Amino acid sequence: MDFFDLCQRRYSVRAYKPDPVEEAKLQKVLDAARLAPTAANRQPFQLIVIHTAGRQAELKRLYHREWFSQAPLVIGICALPAGAWVRKDGKNYADVDATIAMDHLILAAADLGLGTCWVAAFDPAAAREILRLPDVVEPVAFTPLGYPADQPRPKDRKPLVELVRYEHWQSR
Ligand SMILES: Cc1cc2nc3c(=O)[nH]c(=O)nc-3n(C[C@H](O)[C@H](O)[C@H](O)COP(=O)(O)O)c2cc1C
Repeated sequence: MDFFDLCQRRYSVRAYKPDPVEEAKLQKVLDAARLAPTAANRQPFQLIVIHTAGRQAELKRLYHREWFSQAPLVIGICALPAGAWVRKDGKNYADVDATIAMDHLILAAADLGLGTCWVAAFDPAAAREILRLPDVVEPVAFTPLGYPADQPRPKDRKPLVELVRYEHWQSR
C-alpha cells in the first residue's frame, strides 16, 4: 500500500473478529517496531505480546473496554528510561522512542490488513501487576492486534493551517 493511503486508511479499530493473527504477520509487525529509529540508537523499549485467550478478566482490569481483549492478541510497549538517551537539560527520550516503535508496529499492522487501537487510558498499577513489570520498566501504551470487525469513520483532523507555523528567518 502507498504510504499516504496507509496513513489515510489506518484507524482506531474498536471491534475485532476472533480469527487468529498469522505468526508470520505477528513477526512482521514486531520487526517493524524493531526497525524504528531511537535517540542515539539506544532502543530502550520492550514489547510484550499477550495472547488474550483465557486472560479476558485480567485484561479487563488493565483496560475496561470489551473490545480490548476481543482480538486474539494485545501488544504492550514499555519504555526503559535507564537505557535511553538523555538531553543536556535532563529530558529523557524513552517515551518518545517507545512511541515511535509502537507507531511503526501500528502502521505495519494496517499495511497487513490488521486492526489496532492505541490505548493509553489503561490502569498502570494493574498492568504492572498482571505483566509482572519491574519498577525500571514503564508501560507506555497497549493495542489489540487482530482482524477488524468494524468500519473506519471519516477522519476528523484540524486543517494544516492550525497545525503548522512557517518561520521566515529572512524577514527579521
Ligand atoms: C497516544 C494515544 C493514546 C490513545 N489512547 C486511547 C485509549 O485509551 N482508548 C481509546 O479508545 N482510544 C485511544 N486512542 C485513539 C484515539 O482516540 C484516536 O487515534 C483518535 O481519536 C483518532 O482516530 P483514528 O485513530 O481512528 O484516526 C489513543 C491514541 C493515541 C495516539
